[in-house]
Amino acid sequence: MKGHFPIERFASMRTPFYYYDMDLLRQTLQAITTEANKHEGFCVHYAIKANANSQVLKTIRQAGLGADCVSGGEIEASLKAGFPSSKIVYAGVGKSDWEINLGLDAGIQCFNVESVPELEIINELAGAKNKIANVAFRINPDVGAHTHANITTGLAENKFGIAMRDMESIIEQASQMKNVNFVGLHFHIGSQILDMGDFQALCNRINDLQDQLERHHIIVNSINVGGGLGVDYQHPNRIPIPDFKAYFDTYAKRLKLRPGQTLHFELGRAVVAQMGSLITRTLYIKNGAAKKFCIVDAGMTDLIRPALYQAYHKIENISSEEPFETYDVVGPICESSDVFAKQVDLNSTKRGDFIAIRSAGAYGEIMASQYNCRPLPVGYTSDEL
Ligand code: LLP
Repeated sequence: MKGHFPIERFASMRTPFYYYDMDLLRQTLQAITTEANKHEGFCVHYAIKANANSQVLKTIRQAGLGADCVSGGEIEASLKAGFPSSKIVYAGVGKSDWEINLGLDAGIQCFNVESVPELEIINELAGAKNKIANVAFRINPDVGAHTHANITTGLAENKFGIAMRDMESIIEQASQMKNVNFVGLHFHIGSQILDMGDFQALCNRINDLQDQLERHHIIVNSINVGGGLGVDYQHPNRIPIPDFKAYFDTYAKRLKLRPGQTLHFELGRAVVAQMGSLITRTLYIKNGAAKKFCIVDAGMTDLIRPALYQAYHKIENISSEEPFETYDVVGPICESSDVFAKQVDLNSTKRGDFIAIRSAGAYGEIMASQYNCRPLPVGYTSDEL
């Protein structure tokens, strides 16, 4: 046994699969609620897109978090996991009519609207049902985040949100519509952000926008700052729980909330990344001309982050205590980008050894595909093994 993995239980299991350490998830949730509850009006939602495993969702719901959804399927998953509809928010640049209707029928807390044409359709569909939909406007704050280009969202060049210069006009248009109720502003600048300065920049921008609105006598009920807090992919054992204190304290200190305003967060990665590992078996060790390959039975279909974003995940041989050797860890998919890592040091590895690819609880299982007609990986929790 290495780390917290019950490898004797793994012996009879078909690989690859995701393993979720539920004790770590519960400790992480405890840290989130303890730190957020120190500040009045802070409400934390979980971004379902990071991991929608049903046991994981139930545990998060039990901790009292709300749900942040970006599709009809995610609204259904949240309702199934027992999230109250009054704590479900729904964002996304391209909401289909059936998805909007699903949200209206469920009576969700709020639609985070990203364009005027979308606002018009929500108003029309809500009118057809004689309902009033709460809407918040996702504003593109043109604030950069120091993270991978594919996961920044808050720059003017990105497809997300409404330009700042159009904010007042959309608020004015909403006030003329009968079936929408404007409740707040929504922001999200990107993901895997570790520099609190990026969140401070967002706070400064929101403070300016609030001052601007106040000059027109508009005070919103809620501000939603999205998610984005990163995790330490290099040290999943040393730093398993992100620094939620620094994160919430940054907002408490820098954002000037008006009396009675609530501040919403939509954390995804920081909640679930560290509790998950992709467990795979070594199939072959191949001595190439220049290097050694450790060929495993998981591939980019099971965890696409290294191939898609050149993301780093720590890799460990959890079956071996032998001296270290250097390998390229690769999968079986017919694509040359199907590489988990190059030149990594692993305890000397042989066929059958279990390899853990760490920090894979967020954007792992949920982004899996069936390319090459492969079965989707299953997620197992420590509670059930
Ligand atoms: N709210 C909104 C509006 C979002 O777009 C996202 C993530 C979140 C919240 C949650 O962000 P988080 O706290 O997890 O950073 N697949 C990529 C990440 C894409 C994130 C997309 N939006 C990855 O594997 O790194």
